[in-house]
Order: sequence, then structure tokens, then C-alpha cells
Amino acid sequence: MPHQRRIERLIAAMTLEEKIGQLGAFADALRPFAFEVNPETFARDAEQVREQIRSGRVGALFNGVGAAEGREAQRIAVEESRLGIPLLLGADVIHGMRTVFPIPLGEAASFEPDLAERTARATAKEATAAGIHWTFAPMVDVARDQRWGRVAETSGEDVYLSCEFAAARVRGFQGGDLTAPDSLLTTPKHFAAYGAISAGLDYNFVDMAPQTLRDVHLPPFKAALDAGALTLMSSFNDINGVPASANRELLTDILRGEWKFEGFVVSDYTSDLELVAHGYAADEADAAQKALSAGLDMSLQSGVYANHVAALVEQGRLSMAEVDEAVRRVLHVKAAAGLFDDPYRCLDAAREADQSHIPAHDALARDCARRSIVLLKNDGDVLPLKKSGQRIALIGPFAQDTAHLGGCWNIFGDASRMVDLETGLRAALDDPSALVVVPGSGIEDAVEGGIEAAVAAARAADVVLLALGEPHDFSGEAQSRTQIVIPAAQQALAEAVAATGTPVVVVLRNGRALALEGAVREAQALLVTWFLGTQTGPAVADVVFGDYNPSARLPVSFPQDAGQQPYFYNHPATGRPNVPGTPRFFQTRWREVPHAALYPFGHGLTYTRFEYGLPQLSATRLGWDDTLTVRTRITNAGARDGEDVVQLYVRDRIASRVRPVRELKRFRKIALAAGQSLDVEFTLTRADLAFHGVDNRLAAEPGLFDLWIAPSATTGEAVQFELLAP
Ligand code: BGC
Repeated sequence: MPHQRRIERLIAAMTLEEKIGQLGAFADALRPFAFEVNPETFARDAEQVREQIRSGRVGALFNGVGAAEGREAQRIAVEESRLGIPLLLGADVIHGMRTVFPIPLGEAASFEPDLAERTARATAKEATAAGIHWTFAPMVDVARDQRWGRVAETSGEDVYLSCEFAAARVRGFQGGDLTAPDSLLTTPKHFAAYGAISAGLDYNFVDMAPQTLRDVHLPPFKAALDAGALTLMSSFNDINGVPASANRELLTDILRGEWKFEGFVVSDYTSDLELVAHGYAADEADAAQKALSAGLDMSLQSGVYANHVAALVEQGRLSMAEVDEAVRRVLHVKAAAGLFDDPYRCLDAAREADQSHIPAHDALARDCARRSIVLLKNDGDVLPLKKSGQRIALIGPFAQDTAHLGGCWNIFGDASRMVDLETGLRAALDDPSALVVVPGSGIEDAVEGGIEAAVAAARAADVVLLALGEPHDFSGEAQSRTQIVIPAAQQALAEAVAATGTPVVVVLRNGRALALEGAVREAQALLVTWFLGTQTGPAVADVVFGDYNPSARLPVSFPQDAGQQPYFYNHPATGRPNVPGTPRFFQTRWREVPHAALYPFGHGLTYTRFEYGLPQLSATRLGWDDTLTVRTRITNAGARDGEDVVQLYVRDRIASRVRPVRELKRFRKIALAAGQSLDVEFTLTRADLAFHGVDNRLAAEPGLFDLWIAPSATTGEAVQFELLAP
């Protein structure tokens, strides 16, 4: 560590209270914001916080905003505290700051990690200008149950896709130089397996094979750390009975022992204190002891370290060496971020005023948003619509809405810049009066006369755009749903509109995969638009009118029915696979629906048509240390230029543990002009085929593999190759 000497000198000079101070982060009562996100913020008043900083009893503040106020807090820390250790100022800056980009799940649908890197870079510029050093992002949990409200914050159900987006976002937020004025430190979260909570119920238990933990849930964290992340956030859940926030195997054995992580781990919001409610700690002191000794360095908001660590050290229940080690990690991160050399980094009010709106970010937000829209279905090529000569009825509670564009983590977004659907669509039309707008229904409640007005508008139109779905607060923390369907009032609206016979294009707003029913499922066309942020209206208009040819793909499987959850494409093979159309009765199926998605992971249409050649392998036998090259010719056989997401999947045919029916190993988005062909090439080595075996060690096993290059997780023709023994 380059700053080692300075850090050791400081530790030697610190009192125990000052050391404990570095291990506490508290909601920022000096520049409070987002009361609804952190209601406890106001439990302390500003003067108390100033005194806390002055006496060296706080290491970090979070979820405050504002360069001038942040500078004043930092001035107290640096000039008025005994040792002058700078504060770290953190916040939940998740998918945009003033400019709001699509929710992470939506952005993952672009299958363009470099796009996520660019939006994270833009976000970092805005956040660091507003007095923030450190973000509690990216969320890298793998989400396999769509009932979970926090699916919206993830990159979906696939491990490889999640790894690619995790690394890209870390690179984007942090940039190349952690001490640069626009570098935002990252905190991949929530370590670990939070995405596997039982029944999709937030905070619930996790009971899983250690191999699944390592094969599915840990890799995105490793990818984020390899990309340079220096802090991690522990999760609320327990794993096989041991809460993650006091889990020595995770926080010490794996993270520090195996992965050699040198940064610090911060708890989730009061997750250390919650060891008591879990029944894992007898009281707050016991919780502090268990968490700190397991490897949890910084306590977020609960105050249990501040209140109990000194006594625990005096009683010999925690050693000074344990406390010093946690302090060392925190100081290491502050040093790596350049805060000892320039504590006022990111705290420049003039820069904040100048960069509160960076116009180039609007264009990026629009491009990212349209690249996140998935075209699920387009019967009879009803889309794209024409900009003139077509009467369009825009119907639904999200037609004129700006309150539900930002998504569940939009706490700092500039509400005045949000562009709704109506505005975006009307601006794109040659004759703006061709668009008629009728809400038709509230989000969860019918409105009087709404359906009648909607039906009249649909009858008078050539085509209906039906803006339906979930409000933003159906997603996010503590927003698990049992029925992942469209609210009944909106479904009733859809049925009435469809009954007019006018073609319907559903513009779905959603923070998770939904179980689509009735008229929504049967609509002529379906666009999945997630929560797209600031530029929602223009981005949807770009796709609806064909100025942008949709290219996104599902990062989560859309089920046939809500009751299938958890459903994910890469499930282990059962002994009785479901083969629809076969007479066998005793199969892995539901009475009502097959064991399959309605729209699988990776699916998404475009306004053109891509044809796939059969994959050509460099050899059908892969030597233990060799590289396999796979090539496929992709042709744009349609009449429009377009982009395709070429996906490579494998299946290990016979293994010592049951393997998934398919696993994504590579993907690439390519742009092809109408009529153009391209040979797309991928390489694989045995590392791509490795999994954790019965002994919980990572290894590939020799034998036969299926390989697909396909446009989704359930299409394509398999070719085989054999991995040879060493
Ligand atoms: C969430 C975290 C978030 C933290 C701080 C918690 O409730 O789980 O994702 O970073 O609060 O606001």
C-alpha cells in the first residue's frame, strides 16, 4: 500500500474513540435530502453532527447533497478535529444523478456494458460535482425471482451478464484515476446472495448450496473488485443461518483470504444491529462484536459500533488489533481516493453550479433509453408507426406521467427535465394533432368514465398505444409482490380497448419481468420500457416511429404465469424434462403452463430479420489447455439496418453435479446494414466451462458439451464439442 506509513502513523496517534469514529457512517443531517429514503436522518440535528465531526467520532456521512455544505463538513473534519482525517461523503447514486438514466435492469437489456460504463461516467461527473465521493452502487446481486422488488436494481438473472455490467459500471463510476475530480468510489452490493432471498420476499432467509453461492452469486462481486472497487456493502439476509453482516466465511475467508481484498466492507443500513432481530446476537453489544470480528469494518447508521466497541475492547471481547485492522482499511480507501492530499475534492460550489446540467447527458440518456427498450412481439409489423396519416390513441395512466419515469432509486434526479410519453410522441409526429391522449384509468383504481372515453378514442384511431404497467414504487426495497401482474384496473382498461378491434401496441412500464395476461399478452405488439428516466418520451418515440430500430434483449425471463417464480432460464436439468407435445404425463410441468418462459432470457425482436448460420468450431475436441474458436455467419435478411445481440450458450452434458440446461458464456451486439453479413467469432477455454464441484472447488470436467450461438436462451441448434482430459 503506497500510503501505508501515513496510515500507520495515524493509527498510532488515534485514541480508541477516534478509531471507532472512523468505523461509523451516518445519514447526513448537515445537508439532508430524501427524507423518505432515510427517515432516521433527522434523528440527529445538524449541530450534533458538527460536534461529532469535530471530536473525530464519524468517518463518513451519506445521502446528503450539495458542494458548499459538504465543504463545510469537511472543513470541520480537517481543520477542527484533532487529527484532521477527512470525511468520506457517500450516497445512493444508482442510475443517474440529475440526469436519470434507465433503471439498471433496463440498461442491462441493452446488452451493452460499454453503454453502462458511459452512463456511470456521466453519473459520476454529476455526483462528484454535487459533493459526493462515494456511491452505494453498483448493485450486482443476481436476481432469479421476479417477485423481489429489487430486481429493478440488478442486471437480471444471468451470471455472465451481471459480471459484465458490474465491471463496466465500476470502471465508469470510478474512471481511470481514483483521485481525479470526477472519480466516484463504488460499493458493489449486497454481499452476498441477497438476490436469492426465499420466495422473493425482501430480507428473507437464503438457504443454498455453497456451490450455488460460488457459481451464481459471488462472481459479479469478484468481477467488480477486479475492476477496481474498493468498498463492498454487506447484505441484510442470512446465508445458511449466518447473517451476511457477521459472516466470517464471506467477509474474511473469501473476501480477504481468497480474493485479497484490501478495501473495507460497510454494513447495509443498520444490518449489524439487525443481528439481534435475526436472533444471531443477544444484544447490540453482541451484534457489534460479532459483526466487527467477522470482518465488517464500517457500521452504516445503526451506531452500534459507536455505542459498544470501546466497552468490548475494554472487556477483551474485541482486540485492539481487530479494531486497528478495520480502521486501516477505511483509511486506505480514503488515501486511495486522494482525500488526505485534497480533502476538498468534489466540494467545489462553482463546479456544482456549472455542472448541474450537462446537456450532452440528455443525448446519452435518450440513446441509453432507446437501447434499453425490448420489442417482445410485433404481429403483422404493426410497428413502427407512421409519423403522418395514422390516427394514434395514446391510452393509459402512464401516458402523461412524469412521476413514474425515474424508477425506484431516483432520489437526486432533476424532476423538471423529465419528458413524458405524450410530449415525446407528439414532438416526433409530422402532425401533432394526430395523437389523442386518454388516461382511461388510474394506476390501481378505475376512473369514472375512463373506460368509455378510452374505448371511444380507440374506435376513432387507427392504432392504440397502451401505456400500462407498474408504478415506480412497486419496485425497490421492501416492495416484493406475490402476483407479478398488471393491476386489475389497468387490465380491465386493456380488455375494453382490445375489444374495439383497433390494433394495440402495449408500452409496458415495469421494474421486473411481469406475467402478462389477457389483452395485454394478446396485443399485436409489446414494448418493454422499464423505467427509462429523463428522456423516456423521446426514446419511446424513437422506437415507436422507427427512428431507432430496437436492439435490446430480456435480461430476465418473462414467465407464462406468476406462480412459476422463481423461474430463470439457466435452471439445473431435472430428471423429467418438460417436452411439450409429448404424451408423457409425469414431466416437470405445471398443470396450467409448461416449465418454460413466455418470452425467454435473451429474447427481443427488431424491425429487421437476422439469420444465423450453424456455428463452425475450430475443432470438435478441445485440448485441456487449448482455445476453442467458434464462428457463425449472421445475416441481416430484412430491409432495414439493425443491431443484433449474438449470444453463445453452453451446456455441460454429463458432470459430477447437475448442470444448468444452458448458460450464457459470451455475447456481442453487432450492427448490420440491410443485406449485410458478418462472421462473428468467439473463443472459449476450459475456464469458461468450470464450476464448483462436490468438493466446492472450481474446475472444468472433461466430456461432452452442447454449444449454441443463438438469438435467445431457448432458440438455435446445438453443436457438440468434447473437452479432453489433461
Ligand atoms: C439499501 C441499500 C442502500 C442503503 C443506504 C439500504 O436500505 O438496502 O441498497 O445503499 O439503504 O441508503
